[in-house]
Amino acid sequence: MTNPIAPTFAAVDLDAIDAHEGRVAVCIGADGKLGRGARRANSRMKGAIARLVESDAWAKLKEGDTRVLGYPVGMAAEAVIVLRLDKKSSIEDARKGGAGLAKVMGKGDLIVLDASDQRAADVGFGIAMRAYSFGAHKTAEADPVGGVSFMVGEPEDVTERAAPMQAVAQGAFFTRDLTNEPANVLTTTEFAERLVALKELGLEVEVLEDDQLEELGMGSLLCVGLGSASPSKVVVMQWNGGGDEAPFALIGKGVVFDTGGISLKPAGGMEDMTMDMGGAGVVSGVMKTLAMRGAKANVVGLVGLVENMPSDRATRPGDVVTSMKGDTIEVINTDAEGRLVLADVMWYAQERFKPTGMIDLATLTGAVIVGLGHENAGVFSNDDSLVGQFFKAAGNESEGAWRLPLSPAYDKLLNSRIADIKNVGGRTAGSITAAQFLQRFVQDGTPWIHLDIAGVASVKAETALAPAGATGWGVMSLDRMIRDVFEG
Ligand code: BES
Ligand code: MN
Ligand code: ZN
Repeated sequence: MTNPIAPTFAAVDLDAIDAHEGRVAVCIGADGKLGRGARRANSRMKGAIARLVESDAWAKLKEGDTRVLGYPVGMAAEAVIVLRLDKKSSIEDARKGGAGLAKVMGKGDLIVLDASDQRAADVGFGIAMRAYSFGAHKTAEADPVGGVSFMVGEPEDVTERAAPMQAVAQGAFFTRDLTNEPANVLTTTEFAERLVALKELGLEVEVLEDDQLEELGMGSLLCVGLGSASPSKVVVMQWNGGGDEAPFALIGKGVVFDTGGISLKPAGGMEDMTMDMGGAGVVSGVMKTLAMRGAKANVVGLVGLVENMPSDRATRPGDVVTSMKGDTIEVINTDAEGRLVLADVMWYAQERFKPTGMIDLATLTGAVIVGLGHENAGVFSNDDSLVGQFFKAAGNESEGAWRLPLSPAYDKLLNSRIADIKNVGGRTAGSITAAQFLQRFVQDGTPWIHLDIAGVASVKAETALAPAGATGWGVMSLDRMIRDVFEG
């Protein structure tokens, strides 16, 4: 498990600046006015910071950008990092600035000076989120990461503001670790064990094994894992931090590896399908965050864990299976497996918990990447009010999300000659027909959002708050939405 850096916040101690041996960061706004910490460092450095601020280079720096001054005279530090950040910067810029610091902070301890009390925790959160690396399978000893401390005006206030953010970083790191993990390590059994371990945080965790799923009638979910040596499972995580109201439900697609099954995928890039449990990873990360910050809300997270492999026992194209709901499904393409998993988990969640609303997350379609690339997840919903709450949270957290339509007009694409429905709709509108398929398993009166995160769960280039690889997209927005809607 990768643990995020936990920044600390202490009172200003100017003498400690001179003697600090790691790196020292100073925040300076667009006006170039030096704060207390910067003035101290500047005077030790014989005016080097003032010269930077007066230079043309300074004028070109954008909010959140950094400049490193190496081996400064008059100080013990190995470098002074100047972060261009206004006292009244946006939260987004403060986080970006923190992410910038994470990239140049070196191996020793970092102290951060002159961040405003309003934004210091956000800068710290940006550092923690960006300073992630997945080293589980590198045999070389990882470089130790130094500590990060801020000098602020009111340390107790800032520490209090930072605590829930640390819980979000912990949840996002959990999501990233799960999503980055290769499929020979993160089998369905290993995944379930990692979730059972969350009990330690006060979550209720149950693992439904394949014979129980059989009894529940989850023929749709179970048909996906038939070709795999790893048993299919559903894990139910409950966080009851609220009153006695019904919970909100989060559902995740947890295909630990997607070969496509008998409808085998081409070899090129198939290794990326280790991330096909990304939806389940986000649900797991959010549940961890809720527990770690003691959220005052009732939320249940359910993940369907399966592996989609070809074998003599695997589901064939043309097979007909019966879902827990009772609808029969003709499996035209065994590579459209995520919807088969979600259909049964969503149905089960509604039957058992009668949730006040439901959000599913899934790396569901390649088509959503064609449409939206890696900047936005596809958003589908039957409820304008719920989706409005989600977009507000996603906007505040700067996680890209874009709404796409649902409409019964697409349903005819899913008509099957021999069963109630088929699992693929053909070449056009691939993400929408997938969502229409899922909507068949949403009960009347359940507000629902489907998030197709195929393009955002794991990416090849770094993003604002994450290095290349798993991003943890969605943990921040969903935690924010739960806080705003249920804990307001
Ligand atoms: N897991 C894939 C979708 C995916 C593609 C996720 C690329 C991440 C990156 C999903 O199970 C899948 O194979 N979908 C098919 C559906 C098709 C057969 C209707 C697809 O998108 O090609
Ligand atoms: Mn597939
Ligand atoms: Zn898949």
